[in-house]
Amino acid sequence: LIAFFQPKRLAGQRVLITAGPTFEAIDPVRGITNHSSGKMGFAIARAAQEAGAQVTLVAGPVHLPTPAHVRRIDVQSALQMHDAVMPLAAAHDVFIATAAVADWRPVAAAEQKLKKDGSGCPPAIEMVENPDILAAVARLPQRPYCVGFAAESHDLLRHAQDKRARKQVPLLVGNLGPATFGQDTNALLLVDEHGHRELPQADKLTLARQLVAEIATRLTPPTR
Ligand code: CTP
Ligand code: CA
Repeated sequence: LIAFFQPKRLAGQRVLITAGPTFEAIDPVRGITNHSSGKMGFAIARAAQEAGAQVTLVAGPVHLPTPAHVRRIDVQSALQMHDAVMPLAAAHDVFIATAAVADWRPVAAAEQKLKKDGSGCPPAIEMVENPDILAAVARLPQRPYCVGFAAESHDLLRHAQDKRARKQVPLLVGNLGPATFGQDTNALLLVDEHGHRELPQADKLTLARQLVAEIATRLTPPTR
């Protein structure tokens, strides 16, 4: 019922969200991933939908139910997330990158399970950097309003300000990890061109609704 009475601040807006970790295969049974429950991204998808938006959620491997009336696209790797997001981005008004994208992937996944060879020497796994999905969307000529996230273990404000500038996004949301990973509560630090503001400790859905309200105030009304 509370959901039903959320103000329709995003009516007519199309919102694209990435959430969860990515998984980069090493071989058929192993891979590299990040800590991320996906809870914050899924809560934002729910809050944006409640606020009247059409929501597309591109999710890495997580065990969470799809919020009602949200279009969900499941992916595994950063490349798959990139390839799902890029063709959709220009047709959205807002892009919110909450995903914990793996920064590197093995150059190629082995087709067969790597076996210990008895030498005691671990295999050398050559890695390459993954594309920066948020920065790529922020560079599009037809870019949506872009919101980045940063989980930092220390110097949150400075890192959030640096990331905002580096990725050329108007709004960067910081949170302190790993203390918040998988938890149901969090606190967020909003960094924009005017400065910064804290959304104090609360459950993730409450924070998601506050963040959606903040984003709505920053959007120009849709012209379509
Ligand atoms: N991001 C992304 N694609 C990547 C890496 C990050 O879209 N390949 C997005 C994240 O979803 C997040 C923001 O960029 O919104 C910041 O991610 P973060 O990992 O904190 O930044 P990095 O640039 O990867 O810097 P580092 O991990 O070195 O701190
Ligand atoms: Ca990273």
